Amino acid sequence: MKRIDRRTLIGGTAALLAAPLFAARSSTPGATPSATTPAKGAFPKDFLWGAATAGHQVEGNNVTSDLWLLEHLTPTVFKEPSGDAVNSFELWPQDLDLVRALGLNSYRFSLEWARIEPEPGQFSLAMLDHYRAMIDGCRQRGLTPLVTFNHFTAPRWFAAQGGWTNSQAPDHFARYCERAARHLAAGIGYATTLNEPNLMRLLRRMLPPAVWDLGRATLDAAARACGTAKFVAANVSNLEDIDTMLPIMIAGHKAGRAAIKAVRPDLPVGVSLAMLDDQAVGADSLRDARREELYGAWLEAARSDDFLGVQNYERARYDAQGRLPPPAGAELNAMGSEIYAASLANAVRYAHTATGLPIMITEHGLGTDNDALRAQFITAALRELQAAIQDGVPVKGYMHWSLLDNFEWIFGYDVRFGLHEVDRATFARTPKPSAAVYSAIARSHGGSL
Ligand code: BGC
Repeated sequence: MKRIDRRTLIGGTAALLAAPLFAARSSTPGATPSATTPAKGAFPKDFLWGAATAGHQVEGNNVTSDLWLLEHLTPTVFKEPSGDAVNSFELWPQDLDLVRALGLNSYRFSLEWARIEPEPGQFSLAMLDHYRAMIDGCRQRGLTPLVTFNHFTAPRWFAAQGGWTNSQAPDHFARYCERAARHLAAGIGYATTLNEPNLMRLLRRMLPPAVWDLGRATLDAAARACGTAKFVAANVSNLEDIDTMLPIMIAGHKAGRAAIKAVRPDLPVGVSLAMLDDQAVGADSLRDARREELYGAWLEAARSDDFLGVQNYERARYDAQGRLPPPAGAELNAMGSEIYAASLANAVRYAHTATGLPIMITEHGLGTDNDALRAQFITAALRELQAAIQDGVPVKGYMHWSLLDNFEWIFGYDVRFGLHEVDRATFARTPKPSAAVYSAIARSHGGSL
């Protein structure tokens, strides 16, 4: 779920897809030059260089999930259904080969809870085996698997019981985490429970009323279709549910973490948060209040985790009135937000200062059809990250979003973040030039920056 200018998941598609937002630009992205010139070799020896995907966005035919239902309703906030996605359910060995071919040493992907537990308490051994094969496939290729137990999509039955507004949700999630961990935990390198559980808090101030209305109509139609009182998805929910969801999701994260740890105490477990680079402008800036609202309870909850997953795509500047628009003349991404390469390192610095935890960058990337911009953005952002590491911020790895162009939630297939493009008729994957740029950085362990 994305805001209307960068992170809109819901509605507004036609306006957002207007030509000026997508026009290729020729200038370079707005990297803020680092004060220091980063020396070579700042990245720790065991640094993980990776790429990320998420089940629903790449696998295809996730038919027992909540979002599959939402995508097929009338009305729906989705531009198009996910359908076959990029058929990674079948083609995952090829995908792992692509990661390997880039010279990366890790891969982040997610389990689809709806496949593993399509009905409450009914677990599919075949699907658990499928994900075990992926984990083994990573290991066989020398890739450390980072596994997200839940990346937004849930089983339809879970959403039909009110999703994360239901006080029983943490127990349901913990039961699933325990079962999945028993089958899978042995091979996992790093586990995260929830992906961006704070996303709706971010969207609350960003989406226009028409988008919330369309979301509500979609959820009402889903509740009718399921014969239930309330249908709520993690990334499509109503405004009045957002505060209800917060303590339940935090309880879900803690219960899920405990369930995974009970199976394998030494497995590092964390949660991935959507984090902007929040900047204060002028006197009485609302920046700190916004930070508290967006991350406060989560940063507190994460303090007993093994690491914090940071997902950053942009900066936000706040004055005393609220968030400011992108500076005049700023380069914009496909979602209409400013391209600002220093945002990753700044978010990482803040996340570490606020929690004292080591940071895993579980997502960072650029939605654009201008791949030259992506290549420049990766290089500039990693230079800034290198400077942060040199300053002592413990960063364990960097997972670029995304390995492949994929299903970008309500935008369908029109917003592309991939290092590889995918022909959706043949499912053929082709590396973009930015893939070679990232590959060279990873192979040289940052030495080429
Ligand atoms: C999400 C991904 C999404 C990406 C790019 C993150 O918020 O975790 O699922 O595709 O951003 O918008």
